Formats: sequence, C-alpha cells, structure tokens
Amino acid sequence: MSEVKKNYTDQELERMSNAELAALGTELDDVTVAYRKERFPVEGDPREKSAAAGINAWLAVSVVTAIAFLGIYLFWPWEPKFHGDEGLWIYTAYTPLLGLTAGLSFLSLGIAMVQYVKKFIPEEISVQRRHDGRSSELDRRTTTALLNDAWETSTLGRRTAMKGLLGTAGVLAGLVVIAPLGGLIKNPWRERHALGYHGDGTLWTHGWTLHDQGVKIYLARDTGAIAEKHAGAAGEHYSTAGVSRLVRMRPEDLAAGAMETIFPLYEEDVNDGDKYDPKRDVYENHMHSLHGPRNAVMLIRLRSQDAEKVVEREGQEDFHYGDFYAYSKICTHIGCPTSLYEAQTNRILCPCHQSQFDALQYGKPIFGPAARALPQLPVTIDEDGYLIAKGNFVEPVGPAFWERQS
Ligand code: FES
Repeated sequence: MSEVKKNYTDQELERMSNAELAALGTELDDVTVAYRKERFPVEGDPREKSAAAGINAWLAVSVVTAIAFLGIYLFWPWEPKFHGDEGLWIYTAYTPLLGLTAGLSFLSLGIAMVQYVKKFIPEEISVQRRHDGRSSELDRRTTTALLNDAWETSTLGRRTAMKGLLGTAGVLAGLVVIAPLGGLIKNPWRERHALGYHGDGTLWTHGWTLHDQGVKIYLARDTGAIAEKHAGAAGEHYSTAGVSRLVRMRPEDLAAGAMETIFPLYEEDVNDGDKYDPKRDVYENHMHSLHGPRNAVMLIRLRSQDAEKVVEREGQEDFHYGDFYAYSKICTHIGCPTSLYEAQTNRILCPCHQSQFDALQYGKPIFGPAARALPQLPVTIDEDGYLIAKGNFVEPVGPAFWERQS
C-alpha cells in the first residue's frame, strides 16, 4: 500500500472537491473501502419510488400515532372510575391507549429509519484501523467532507416529503417522551375535591383525616363481599344493596399475636350488627375507603408478654388501646404495603426492599432503606365496644415529600 501524502496547504485543500476530500479522508484514516455500491444507480428507477413511498408510509403512521398519543394524553377522561360507575370502560382504556399509541409511534419511526438505511444508504464494506491522539486540522477537514459525502449519497437532501415527515415524526416522538412529564407538575397544596375517603387531593390527607372534623370513624375489616343475587318480581338480579364490604371490629375479633388490615368506616356508612338494614346500599362508599391510597392500617394485637416490653414514642403514649396498636400500612420508604407481621419477633417487614419496623417501638425502622417510623393511629373503643379512631394521624402517611415537617 503506497504512502498517503499527509501535508496539504490550505490552497490545495480548497481546490479539492468534496469527493476527493472524502476519498483522501478514508485513506488518511487507514480505511479501506472493500466494497461500495449505490442502491439505485439508475436515475428514475421505479423501485426507488416505491421504496420511498413505503418509508413515507411508516413515517406517516409515526406522526399520526404520536398526535393520537398527545390527544389522548391531554383530552381523554382520566379521572378514576370504580365498579358500577358510568364511563368505566373509557377510563379503563386510558392507559392501554397511551401505551399503544406511544409504542406504535416509536416502532414505526424505528422501522422507517431502519428501512431508510437499508434501502438508500450505499452498500459498503470498510475496514478501519484506529489511532490514538488528537485529530489534526487535516483530519477534521476530511471528516467534515466525509460527513458531507454521507449526506449527499444518502439522497435525503433531495427527498423533501421524507425530510418533512422525518422531522415531524422526530419532533412528535420527542413530545411523546416529554409531554407525560407535564403530569408530574402539580400544585401539591391545591385541594382537588371535598375531604372524604380519598383525602382532599393533597398528599397529607386520607380517609382518617375526617376525624379532625368530628366524624366518628370505625376501624373496619374487609369482608371481601361482592354483589348478591336477589329474586324479585322482575326476576333474578345482582345488587349490592344490603352488602357490607366493611364491618366494624371489636377487640375480641382479633387473637393475640395477630394482625388485621383495617380501613376507615364513617358512622353514616355503617351497615352491620344492630345497624344493619338490608335495603341500604353502602357498598360504593366502602369501596372508596378500600381504594383510598393512604387508608390501609395494620391493627396488631400484641401478645400480653410482648406488650409489657413496648417502648412508647413521646407524645404517643396513649395511642394504643390495651394490647392493640395501629400503624399505617404504607411503607415510609416509597409506599409499598408493609404487609408482613411476624408475631415471634414483632417485626413488620416491607416486601419491596426489606425494610423492617419494630411493632414494640412505635413502628421504628430497624433495618432496610426506610428512615421514618410507620405513623401510629390513635385507637380506642366506643360505648358499644367497637374499635374506633381516637384521632387522626399526627404526621403525614407514606413516603417523604418535600413539604412535610417530619
Ligand atoms: S417501599 Fe418499603 S422498603 Fe421500599
């Protein structure tokens, strides 16, 4: 292989065409082009037009699906709907449609790009040896020329429709990635609805917060009951009337060393025991309580010998009722349910990242990434012997967020 001339004056470089500079660049880079062939060497080849049309079609699919994604993201009714609510299927379709349109947009853009490279970029096999060190002025000029050459031989410069579609698809694909971030920008101080089982839309409220407004709240267990079959003049039908998904609990309902997940039940939604009315339909309200994201609480009945070892947190000495201790079930790490109570050690384990909390020490974290104790719910019993909340949580429930004090 003959030695390549490496020193050129500015005038010599100015006089060289782009093709000559590109060829010189490959030689200087110790690149051997072993094989190179234009895809469509004959101008006006009908196969070229059909290849371009195919790629344009994929780009058009990408553009349309990206617009569909943005339209669905911005305008589709996204507010949660529950079993029996009108518009449930529309709400249910929201997330799958977002995934489908975003996926199709990226997929079709990717296919178009792969197809373009396969159908229009010249076929070439090159072998290159690499060098260390900084590039010289000559190298930079020739590299620029090579890039220019690649642009020209790609023929993209003269394909106006494809260029436009590619640019549009690229911008819209970028928006598909960026637009959902808008959903994260919210005013955390804004109340979005009246206070109820879901709180009021702020991060520090939940179904237990209504206690602050004088509402009596029972500790209720989930029976798992669903709609029941009724026979009447109009034939058989299913109804939730008379079905109590949540029922009140008494201390004797829980054995020593046991844990039960409980939910808030407002006095007006009670439909069990002496207050049972087979015509009342409280099912939907009970489901709202179950679905409240910060409502779940672990009610633990310690064994008597363990209860003697309890260390109370300052200011929370009277939060328990006898051997009954209630801790938020929402992990203070990143919010998983800390469902695993181990009666022998009195540890509460979060299965997500193995944080452990001590039920004998106000839910204090003793292992794993969680840094804060599980908030404790003050509990007692009412005059009829039912377990009720004695107050609201004294700190926000769940993982940390920037407004919180504790
Ligand atoms: S969410 Fe519980 S340990 Fe991470």
